[in-house]
Amino acid sequence: MKGAVAFSESLFSLLFILSTIAATSGNHQFREAPKFYNSPKCPSIHCSTAAAAKSCSDNAVHVAMTLDAFYLRGSMAAILSVLQHSSCPENIIFHFVSSATADTFHLNLTMAKSYPYLQFNVYPFNDSPVAGLISTSIRAALDCPLNYARNYLADLFPRCVQKVVYLDSDLVLVDDIAKLASTPLGNEAVLAAPEYCNANFTTYFTPTFWSNPSLSLTFANRKPCYFNTGVMVIDLERWRAGDYTTKIVEWMELQKRMRIYELGSLPPFLLVFAGNIAPVDHRWNQHGLGGDNFRGLCRDLHPGPVSLLHWSGKGKPWVRLDANRPCPLDALWAPYDLLQTPYIIDS
Ligand SMILES: *[C@@H]1O[C@H](CO)[C@@H](O)[C@H](O)[C@H]1NC(C)=O
Ligand SMILES: *[C@@H]1O[C@H](CO)[C@@H](O)[C@H](O)[C@H]1NC(C)=O
Repeated sequence: MKGAVAFSESLFSLLFILSTIAATSGNHQFREAPKFYNSPKCPSIHCSTAAAAKSCSDNAVHVAMTLDAFYLRGSMAAILSVLQHSSCPENIIFHFVSSATADTFHLNLTMAKSYPYLQFNVYPFNDSPVAGLISTSIRAALDCPLNYARNYLADLFPRCVQKVVYLDSDLVLVDDIAKLASTPLGNEAVLAAPEYCNANFTTYFTPTFWSNPSLSLTFANRKPCYFNTGVMVIDLERWRAGDYTTKIVEWMELQKRMRIYELGSLPPFLLVFAGNIAPVDHRWNQHGLGGDNFRGLCRDLHPGPVSLLHWSGKGKPWVRLDANRPCPLDALWAPYDLLQTPYIIDS
């Protein structure tokens, strides 16, 4: 129960734990997803008989996601959406990071049962060092140590995995992930993500941060813009070469001593990367569909085309659908739900 320490501070956190236990112990059965086949034009990733060599093929698209009991239903749907819209689904390799204290055996088994044809690995992540680093943010869910796993992908995955697409569990793709994975990173960028330069960047850090020149100078000679860490293309080779995990951890250590930001895992990424990332079209992260953080109001799509719908924010589509109080766009998530018997709560 080490992971629970971080949650123990508020009633909100307690409710989160109770619902996690409910989700874990509930009799949830996921349907088996169909097999998806490559189109004839797909490059082969089976250049060698060695399984390890296969998972290191340059032609594979590597996808990284976290896996836990609480968001499992979301992960299942996200995976289905990735496969369904891919023209080379057999070339996708999933890398799932789960908490070392979680029931990894069961998560692994559940995944294999629903996706018998999926190429995937589960990586147990020792989250206790992270739990000691995180300070309570405005939403308890953001304090889950597994949320910080995205900082450690370069260490967790085999060296030969050079590039990954990191995806949150509360999203669905409606376009081919290969297009996102092939985002050019240029000569220097370590990661690519949609940038939002109209967002007021000042608000992501505290007055303590901005009033301390030795800290705020971090952004000198950069034009920092907000980006969401729920959808990123990461060059793991460059990440390892620059030891970016340590750079992010250093900011987290500073945050423990003085409050320089309010949100959870996002601000350290902004501190290290904002202004130096490769851009991705906004269609690849239509974010905020979870609604308003405080009141849970429904949100509409941003203008423009859509390749990925992201229910970031407080509300999750499966929770609202189960409660018979869905937001209009939750209907776009429902077709990817693999839960066999969603329990409907009638009033
Ligand atoms: C998941 O299951 C597979 C197949 O049984 C096994 O080879 C693998 O080691 C398991 N992974 C974990 C992390 O338990
Ligand atoms: C951005 O936010 C800061 C702090 O909340 C505020 O002082 C500033 O006026 C805002 N800037 C713009 C351009 O809205």
